[in-house]
Amino acid sequence: MVNGATEPFVVGSKSFTAVAINTAAKAGQWIKTKMGDINRVDTKYSTHDLVTEVDKGSEKLIRNLIMTHFPNHSILGEEGVEPGPEASAKALQAMSDEEYLWIVDPIDGTTNFVHGFPFFSVSIALAHKGEVIVGVVYDPTRDELFVAEKGKGAYMHGKVTAVCLDDKLADSLVATGLPADRIGALPINLRGIQELAPKVRNLRVAGSAALHLAYVAAGRLSGFWEIGLNAWDIAAGALLIQESGGHVTDTEGKPYHLAVRNILATNGHIHEELKCELVLAKATGFEA
Ligand code: IPD
Ligand code: CA
Ligand code: CA
Repeated sequence: MVNGATEPFVVGSKSFTAVAINTAAKAGQWIKTKMGDINRVDTKYSTHDLVTEVDKGSEKLIRNLIMTHFPNHSILGEEGVEPGPEASAKALQAMSDEEYLWIVDPIDGTTNFVHGFPFFSVSIALAHKGEVIVGVVYDPTRDELFVAEKGKGAYMHGKVTAVCLDDKLADSLVATGLPADRIGALPINLRGIQELAPKVRNLRVAGSAALHLAYVAAGRLSGFWEIGLNAWDIAAGALLIQESGGHVTDTEGKPYHLAVRNILATNGHIHEELKCELVLAKATGFEA
């Protein structure tokens, strides 16, 4: 306890990264115990956008742990925001001036979790004045914890992660998503899939954007793109990739920042080629 009498429940002397790791691991282990034991599945923005009591419980646990250590920090968590792209953009905007902002996806890959398909993750990032300084993505199924600190590299269980060397789309394994927004984002992303599927070695659509990004960082995927994501899907994974030697922009090649929703994240070598295909397919985002 360093905060003494005035803040008796505040636990001090832990680094941001240690708290992020500990919190993601605790939430992930709890989520794992709930596999196959879900009481309630509700829909949010669309009938394809699911939420369970486990998403909400995980977010509560994460908030409590972060607040125990850093009561003056702010938290942007998916389950604390009204559903839909406008509400999430607004929520991020409203918090963009916070000095320390934790950005949390308590379960990324809820559809997989609901079906017992073992590919989902907990994603926790910490931004300082709008710049992500810590990113953790935890896969409880494989007990794989990916962690990055700005300027200090990225690791998975003590081993440095590095992007792969694939330098042609034809030799690349690329992932994307099928966005829950079936009216807006999905048709755009499908144009990209149509264009790219014949040109890459293969495509993967496994259902957790954050874990796909961690896989790019770890060299297991050559790249990832998706239209219409939220800050909590991307923030931790983007830092993992940057700290593993890769490149993260929006789908038009503009620099990544927290409000970017259309993400292109690669090992760097295939970035330009992948971007050009998305441009060709008119699959970089919504028409202005
Ligand atoms: C979803 C997953 C999925 C992606 C969707 C996201 P959620 O997040 O990351 O892979 O295609 O666009 O909304 O709802 O499971 O947290
Ligand atoms: Ca998500
Ligand atoms: Ca989620």
